[in-house]
Amino acid sequence: MKTLLIVYHSMTGGTAQLARAAAAGAGSEAGLRVRLLRALDAQPADVIEADGYVFAMPENLASMSGLMKDFFDRCYYGALERVNGRPYAVLVCAGSDGSNAARQAERIATGWRLRPVAPAIIVCTHAQTPEDIARAKHIGVDDLKRCEELGAALAAGIVLGIY
Ligand SMILES: Cc1cc2nc3c(=O)[nH]c(=O)nc-3n(C[C@H](O)[C@H](O)[C@H](O)COP(=O)(O)O)c2cc1C
Repeated sequence: MKTLLIVYHSMTGGTAQLARAAAAGAGSEAGLRVRLLRALDAQPADVIEADGYVFAMPENLASMSGLMKDFFDRCYYGALERVNGRPYAVLVCAGSDGSNAARQAERIATGWRLRPVAPAIIVCTHAQTPEDIARAKHIGVDDLKRCEELGAALAAGIVLGIY
């Protein structure tokens, strides 16, 4: 049984919806276990034991969110050289940009020698005022579908061993 690990952090719920959509897409693949873990709960052993990854995060202050960075900080060296060549994808929930968070995650994944299966999906919630930033996010069906399809494609590739 192969495992897809989805690690995410979310403050106002947007990224959590993206991560759950990817998990739902991957979940229909027979022969694959999907683990959806909050960044705070993910440990190096979880990374090492998985066969592929989705990293999902908000962009905060032109950077990946602090708790997602904390996950990478805690797990990076423990998993280094033990995950080479495995596939991954990145999901970013952002107010208006998201490119820096995606770039940072891709750079870390490159350090782990992971292989991207698709360009990062960046979903903009258009939150720019303090009120909108603080509000619970609602992600539209089209964006959720993109995440679901990416999860399904990643899952199929892992099970078929094409990555
Ligand atoms: C402190 C803070 C800083 C932020 N900085 C950015 C930013 O630099 N670029 C951007 O596109 N969005 C920024 N945002 C907006 C968030 O990315 C947006 O609200 C997103 O939906 C958060 O995802 P979440 O709902 O999963 O927490 C910021 C939000 C907060 C709270």
